[in-house]
Amino acid sequence: MVSREYVLELLEKLSNAFSPPGFEDEVRNIVREELEGIVDEIRVDALGNLIAYKRGSDKYPSIMLDAHMDEVGFLITHIDKKGFLRFQPLGGFDDRVLYAQQVMIMTKDGKKIPGFIGAKPPHLLKPEERTKIISIDELFIDIGASSDKEVREIGVDIGCVGTFATRFRILSKKRVLGKAFDDRAGLTAMISALKILKDTDYNIIAVASVQEEVGLRGARTAAWQVSPDIALALEGTAAADIPGIPEHKESTALGKGPAITIADRSIIAHPKIVRLLISVAEERGIPYQFKRVIAGGTDAGVIHLTKAGVPSGVVSVPCRYIHSSAAVMDINDLENAIKLVVGFVEKASKELIKK
Ligand code: CO
Repeated sequence: MVSREYVLELLEKLSNAFSPPGFEDEVRNIVREELEGIVDEIRVDALGNLIAYKRGSDKYPSIMLDAHMDEVGFLITHIDKKGFLRFQPLGGFDDRVLYAQQVMIMTKDGKKIPGFIGAKPPHLLKPEERTKIISIDELFIDIGASSDKEVREIGVDIGCVGTFATRFRILSKKRVLGKAFDDRAGLTAMISALKILKDTDYNIIAVASVQEEVGLRGARTAAWQVSPDIALALEGTAAADIPGIPEHKESTALGKGPAITIADRSIIAHPKIVRLLISVAEERGIPYQFKRVIAGGTDAGVIHLTKAGVPSGVVSVPCRYIHSSAAVMDINDLENAIKLVVGFVEKASKELIKK
């Protein structure tokens, strides 16, 4: 196992990095640094997916591990005369979470500058406006400029992208807060598992994919190139073990272990992958839970449909407040996800046949 310090440091670095869909350079660089020397080959494909090969014995199947590098972000679409920026989402936001958030925007020369999502102040609102959600059309980003000219001097223009500016924090001995745990939790699990498995003889192809949040795009071309025997997508998934949600609707809960997907909107996980994950967890005493709502989709949704089909599954780390400016996660769930992935590779290599 890797140490907790390593896991926390890696998660922090990845969570703080800037990586909206299509602009995943910063996270890709971190993934590359972590994997160099651990795998046999690293390459980046035409769309920007990082594909790392850990080659082993021919007798073992090739196992694709996937985690996406992008996070929900914004695209600047208009700059007004007073220097305010209008924006549209890259990926699925809930309009409720945008107002009054701090953001960072990448300038054309790659610098990151701070900004704030503003709207009309409450005392100027009509009574009927006070109770309604402010839609993205009414919001704007203030970067402290007083004219469109000044915005452009700062280096921001239409086509620049941004993310939330939330910094990683440790909340308690077991829980952490940060942005983009979807899917930096999956990336942390994937990188850690490769570190643990580096001297083994298994065949692992680890894909850090692009553009998941806008429609599982990177994983589609990556899986086609890699053409694995089996695949496992590693994710951050919604946990709703919070006030106001009945237990049967919480989907996943913090502290109960990584979540195994039976089905979501994009895939019915292959029963042999699900069975294998459960048997690994039970044999090794790794706590686990099922994802208990058929909702959302992951890269496995496109991976399993590649070529003649790839038996695929999903392991996720439960995250509260996903797709907002921050998420809260239990570090034990992430560590147990790493153990489950490692166990999966070991057992699947020995028990599942090649195609
Ligand atoms: Co995700």
